[in-house]
Formats: sequence, structure tokens, C-alpha cells
Amino acid sequence: MKKEVGQGAVVVLAVAIIAAIIGAAAVYFLMPMPPVKEKEEANVLTLYHWWTSGGEKAAIEALISVYKSKYPDVAVVQSPVAGGAGFVMKTLMKSLVLAGEAPDAFQMHVGYEGQPYYDAGYLEPITDLWISEGWADVMPSVLVDSCKFDDEFYMVPVNIHRTNVLWYNKTVLDAAGIDPATLTTWDAFFAACETLKTTPPAGLESPIAVARGWVHHHILEQIIAGEGATFYQDYVNGKVTSATDPKLLNALETYKTYLSYCNEDRESLVDWPEATAKVITGKAAFEIMGDWAAGEWLLTGKVFGTEWGAMAVPGTSGMWGLCSDAFQHCSGVAHPTRSTEWLKVVGSKEGQAAFNLKKGSIPARTDVDPTPFNVYQKDAMADFKAADHVFPSVAHGTGAPEAFASEMWDIAATFATKLDVSATAKAITDAVKAAQDDYVKVWAI
Ligand code: GAL
Repeated sequence: MKKEVGQGAVVVLAVAIIAAIIGAAAVYFLMPMPPVKEKEEANVLTLYHWWTSGGEKAAIEALISVYKSKYPDVAVVQSPVAGGAGFVMKTLMKSLVLAGEAPDAFQMHVGYEGQPYYDAGYLEPITDLWISEGWADVMPSVLVDSCKFDDEFYMVPVNIHRTNVLWYNKTVLDAAGIDPATLTTWDAFFAACETLKTTPPAGLESPIAVARGWVHHHILEQIIAGEGATFYQDYVNGKVTSATDPKLLNALETYKTYLSYCNEDRESLVDWPEATAKVITGKAAFEIMGDWAAGEWLLTGKVFGTEWGAMAVPGTSGMWGLCSDAFQHCSGVAHPTRSTEWLKVVGSKEGQAAFNLKKGSIPARTDVDPTPFNVYQKDAMADFKAADHVFPSVAHGTGAPEAFASEMWDIAATFATKLDVSATAKAITDAVKAAQDDYVKVWAI
């Protein structure tokens, strides 16, 4: 006979199963748990910069080599974004940072360029690092101040570039009988250009070389500085607001004359290295450019003083146009330890020596041994120390609010094709007025 399982037995069995499950669960939850492993930071450093010319590439490679010698296990992933003065990269960086995709560090100029990031809360203060590394004791105060917002540090500068340099091919000038030492005024300079135009030495295509785009803003800025330190101070403090300001009009007239001696193909030259190459090869005699151009001359092995030379842009002797490249630490970067290690190398003696030797600039630190540097750079170190006026570049992010600086790129580029002095003076002063609320710093030059 089949034995039926009674209802009572079913209940007993169910209770036993439930008890067993609860017991097993209790044992599981009471067991000591292995510690939750924190997500480990990868051995990767992500970097963005716009150093793509020969000299620039050599400089960033040298800096990365110093980093690699200290942190050999870290893979450095660089993303170079072509476009001088960062005219492409700056826009790209803004969108990456906004999207929470900031790299571990990216090239940025000291001063105003960091302000929008700071205002929006994307930068982390690195004051502790500045103190532990002692950077404020070994860098010039104008630079130290430009790395701060509201008394905290947010950037580490790697160099000091000079913007107001007139470069020349000495071999060409010698052939034309022109002594560069006499070219301290615009009149003397344009007279030399006239000589080169009417009786050009073999191979010369135009007295001056220039490329398109942001380069026009760079040059116009140096000419504006040539109107005097007081005028430039007003300019960066947002006080040049009259479209009939005689100094502003004069600067534009001077630039118009300058352009009349430039290469005809200038609007097809993609960026500054192509203009610099024209001077190096003797197709042009002069160019106004920052001393990243020295990085290109250095690669040629030509001798400074004999084959190439440099002097202050007419009207700016004793003045130094300040452009300085820096890196920062954005909040929420993927590899914060790597970012801090990178900043340490950027601010180190060893890093700055390696980078600047190739870059054409001088170290941001004043305690780097000058012995291995080129004559141009040794002269630059002395000139910076002796400068009566250090004026911050707008074209290179430091001197004026971003809103104004980016407008100026377009205004100067438009001027170079339309050559309309009064319309440009109006556009510049309108842009100054539109950015009034953003002028939060008062420069004393
Ligand atoms: C500047 C930058 C320099 C150099 C130059 C040309 O803005 O500070 O390091 O790269 O642009 O691209």
C-alpha cells in the first residue's frame, strides 16, 4: 500500500528547508568579508598639447623623457592637437573638460586662460605642491602671481617665452648691406624692407614672412606694445574703448604697412612654422614671432649671430612680451597620482632644462644652469632680468579675458585681408566693451 505523506510532515519539511536557508544566509553574512578592493589607478598619464612643429616636438619629447626616467612603468599617452597658440586645442579642451573627460594634464597658458575653468570649478588647487616643491622661491613674481586665482595656486609653468621678437636671416641682411642694429624704429625697419623689395638678394621672395590666422593677432599685439607700456597696460586692463584712439589707429596703420612687405601667399600658409621656414631658407628676411621660432632655428644647426639673429620688435626695446606654458590638475581626472607626478616634473630643474633647451624659451625657474643653452637663450635670460616692462600676451592667453582674446583672433585675421583701419579699431573697442565684466585683474606693467 502506498504510504501517503501527511500534511503535518509537509509543514515540518518546509520549516526545515526555510530554517536551513536562513541558517546558510546567516553564516554567509556573518562570515568576515574580504576587503572591497579600491579601483586601482592605471599606470597611464594622458596629456594634451599643441606642440607639433619640429622644435616643439623635440621639447615635449625631452620633457616626457625626464618623466619616464623617474616613472618608467607609466605609459605616457600624448594627444598633440595641431594649431599654433592652441587655436584648435583650446576649444577642444573646453568640451572635454565639460564632458568630464579632462586628461591628466593639458597645455594651458598662465593667467586669464585658466579663469573660465576656475570659475566653473574644474581646477583643483595645488598650493600644497607649490609649497612642498618651493616653486614660489625660484620663479619670478609676475609668473607666480599668474598661476593663482584667489590666493590658491592652480597651474605649474614650464617656461617663459618672449613674444616681441623680430627674427632675421643675417646672411640675407648682409647680402643687402642692412645692419639689424639700426632697425629700432618702424621708419628704419620699413626703409630696410623697401631696400629688400627694390633690390632683393638672390632667392628673396618678400622682405617679411607671415602665415594666416592667429599669427595676425600675435603680430598686431607686438605693434600695440610698441605704442608704449602705458598704452599696453590700458589695453590689457580693458581701458582702450575709443575707436578713434590715436595709438590704436597708429598701430593698425603700422600693421597695414608691415603687411605690404609680406609674402603674397600668406593666407595659404597654414601656420607659423611655414613662415619661419621662409626666413630660414632665405625666401624672406624677417618675421615677427615668439621665440618658439628659435626652436626651429636650433634644429638647423645654423649659428646665432652669424646666420640668424633676433631683436626686439621696433618700439619695444626693454620690453618683454610674456607667454608661459603651464599644466594643471583638473578635478576628477582618471589618474590623479600620475597628474601630480607630471606637475612635479614640469616644475623641476631637470624637466625645465630638458624642455627649454629645445623649445627656444627660457626656464620658468631662475635656478636652472644656463651653461648648455644657446646664445639666443642666454641673451634672453639677461633681457628678461633687465626688462623695464613685462607685458602679458593676450594672443597667448595671459593678458586679457578669454572672451576678448578669442574675438581678437578673428578681428586681426579679418584686418589682414580687408585692411580696414577704422572698422578694425571699432571692432577691437567693441570687443573690449563687450568683455568688460570679465576684466577681473588689474595689470601694472
Ligand atoms: C604658444 C605657446 C608656445 C608655442 C606657440 C606656437 O601659444 O605658448 O609654446 O607652442 O604657441 O604654437
